[in-house]
Amino acid sequence: MRKVSVIGAGHVGSTVAYALLLRNVCADLSLVDLDVKKAEGNGLDLEHCQQFLPPFKLTSGSSYSLCKNASVVVITASTQQPWKTSRYDLLEQNSTIIKEIMQKIYKYAPNAVVVITTNPVDAITQVAINCSKYPETKIFGTGTALDTARLNQRLARHYNISTQDVHAHVLGEHGDSSFVAWSGARIGKTAVGSMSKTEQDLLQELFIQTQNTGKTIISQIGHTSFAIGIVTAELVRAVLNDSNEIFPVSTMVRDYCGIRDVSMSIPCMIGKNGIAKQLPLSLTKVEQTSLARSAETIRACGSHAVGLRTTDEVPSVTSGTDPKRALCRLKMRPWMMSDLRATKYNPQKPMRMLF
Ligand SMILES: NC(=O)c1ccc[n+]([C@@H]2O[C@H](COP(=O)([O-])OP(=O)(O)OC[C@H]3O[C@@H](n4cnc5c(N)ncnc54)[C@H](O)[C@@H]3O)[C@@H](O)[C@H]2O)c1
Repeated sequence: MRKVSVIGAGHVGSTVAYALLLRNVCADLSLVDLDVKKAEGNGLDLEHCQQFLPPFKLTSGSSYSLCKNASVVVITASTQQPWKTSRYDLLEQNSTIIKEIMQKIYKYAPNAVVVITTNPVDAITQVAINCSKYPETKIFGTGTALDTARLNQRLARHYNISTQDVHAHVLGEHGDSSFVAWSGARIGKTAVGSMSKTEQDLLQELFIQTQNTGKTIISQIGHTSFAIGIVTAELVRAVLNDSNEIFPVSTMVRDYCGIRDVSMSIPCMIGKNGIAKQLPLSLTKVEQTSLARSAETIRACGSHAVGLRTTDEVPSVTSGTDPKRALCRLKMRPWMMSDLRATKYNPQKPMRMLF
């Protein structure tokens, strides 16, 4: 029987569990949370769906033994996010949480694929990969799969077509530096690259609008859960069905378009072992710069949020680049300064990647 464990039974975790059951993705589900009442309460509520769904088994509680032999573990556990803070403000506490969880789940589900939603999802995925014994291809973050779903909904509504006929991927950071690889995008049968400049500008404007929708929802209800719930359930389904479907997810990029050693979203084929393949992209120069910028943002914001130690060890941003020169570029970019204004950024101190 295909078993899925969801760690964290808050808004996202319980919605992921609900989406998994509604879409009949798995027949054996466990829900684990430090807060045993939350796990058990949501577990009971979910069990009451039984009459209207295919048969399933559900267990809930605070013990990680509930993850035993899970094929997929979804991690949504998190410290609480006051709505005015940035995702990176969660990094320090969520890094600690994720390290503890990775150790515990490995004990009970060493063969599982691990899917992470916990924010800041790119940096947290990297922490999970660095601190665990799982092969790195078996761990990925939901990344820009949600941003892509939001964009596709917006474009489909604008053109009055089905979302199935929109083929555009949001890539890079799950955050403000994400971008759309428009050069490979299609709306229906029309390549975006062949559209007029005015039309392309409009598409970019629609993307900018969707980039802010997460913040709008959080300012209105304090969290988001429905869309990430179904996105995560679809990723789990791709793993369990070994479907090799392509999603933009946060994966450890070792050498990709000149970017090394950072977890960020690129198009990936998802199968029974997690990331079956990171797919090559043919990007324009501008898009390559956007991808590199996103990588730098993840590194820099992530490192600052967890508190930097100074060292000569600095990240290499592009392969074949002297790391110290890469840092110089990092220091001088105005957009980077604004991204970091909420942190204790000291441009005089080199950064060490702690995640
Ligand atoms: N990646 C995305 O696209 C995306 C979208 C929405 C939310 N999120 C993120 O998902 C995370 C969860 O959001 P939420 O709204 O469900 O938060 P929430 O506060 O409702 O739930 C988090 C749950 O994690 C539990 N928890 C904390 N530490 C734990 C541990 N060590 N073991 C087990 N459980 C633990 C808490 O008790 C709580 O029930 C947040 O980091 C949020 O920012 C990501």
